Amino acid sequence: MTPAIRVRHLWHRFGAFDVLRDVTFDVGRGEIFGFIGPNGAGKTTTIRVMATLLEPTAGRVEIDGVDVMRDPESVRRSIGYMPDHAGIYERVTVREYLEFFAEAYRVPPASVVDAVLELTDLGRISDKVVVTMSKGQKQRLQLARVLLHDPKVLILDEPASDLDPRARIEMRNLLLDLRGLGKTILLSSHILTELSDVCTSVAILERGQLVVAGPIAEIASRFEARRAGAPQGAPEIGGASAAAVAVPQAPRRRVKLRVVGAPEAASAALSTAPGVVEVELAGGYVYATYEGPESVVAHIVAHLVHAGVGILGVEQERNELERIFLEATRGEMQ
Ligand SMILES: Nc1ncnc2c1ncn2[C@@H]1O[C@H](COP(=O)(O)OP(=O)(O)OP(=O)(O)O)[C@@H](O)[C@H]1O
Ligand SMILES: [Mg+2]
Repeated sequence: MTPAIRVRHLWHRFGAFDVLRDVTFDVGRGEIFGFIGPNGAGKTTTIRVMATLLEPTAGRVEIDGVDVMRDPESVRRSIGYMPDHAGIYERVTVREYLEFFAEAYRVPPASVVDAVLELTDLGRISDKVVVTMSKGQKQRLQLARVLLHDPKVLILDEPASDLDPRARIEMRNLLLDLRGLGKTILLSSHILTELSDVCTSVAILERGQLVVAGPIAEIASRFEARRAGAPQGAPEIGGASAAAVAVPQAPRRRVKLRVVGAPEAASAALSTAPGVVEVELAGGYVYATYEGPESVVAHIVAHLVHAGVGILGVEQERNELERIFLEATRGEMQ
């Protein structure tokens, strides 16, 4: 099946500067795909090529199998593009704003605007004048605008920047709803926790080059395998002892456990569980930090059951993406 977005050997040069260097990745259908990278990495440049707004120096982008250079008109019909800093008409109401764009997109305004207002939860404030809206509401309105023509693929450049935590959660839920409706969503961000909650796959860009791309779980296990295969002691460098130079660290993760009865009992049992290096109690939960692969969790659970602790819930802490990002990038800026 053709991917929703296919990027092949994309290069872009501004002046004498190669901003994109041979970027290649796919976004599968129905994915929420996180496009990650530090400031200046080239995310917006790539996105602008996808949105038919920038002609790349070399390479190719296809949306739903259609080349953005060959048939930009048709690509524009199938994408909903939300730029990072869009101007927004301020002296109109939410409904008027959406009706205007519905007309521009040549979709029947009344029914479509109502549907989009409901989907984005803007119905309650449809008579509000745009200038009086909060940033989060405006961001939601921008997203509503790109949904009017019912595009298959949404390309969102930092849709949650400047949003407070509640607005961020609302945006995240909206993205999940849209995915439920069968949309493919590519969104850029450098806030990793925000992406790890919603994304199924990611691509990490640094200095115009793709560092890694694919499903988060797959990348994580690839990194884990690499770590496991790394030499345990670094060779001596310039007379320094092996211990003084970088020794690869075993990965550490945390699981959050909910147990029957007092968490203190679980905490005592956990202190002797295999792989566990730290135990904390907070908010009625028990947090166990463990060393080693994810499969250690199964041993921890077995250990607790054996110790007579009833387990109600086991949840991995979602910091996989942060781990991947830090390992994959070198913190270089251009
Ligand atoms: N129109 C332009 N002319 C010249 N250079 C540009 C232009 N647009 C972007 N650049 C440069 O290209 C590089 C990549 O910029 P881009 O906006 O794609 O990065 P980004 O990953 O979106 O960063 P951010 O996280 O800050 O949004 C930067 O070094 C930027 O200065
Ligand atoms: Mg950008």
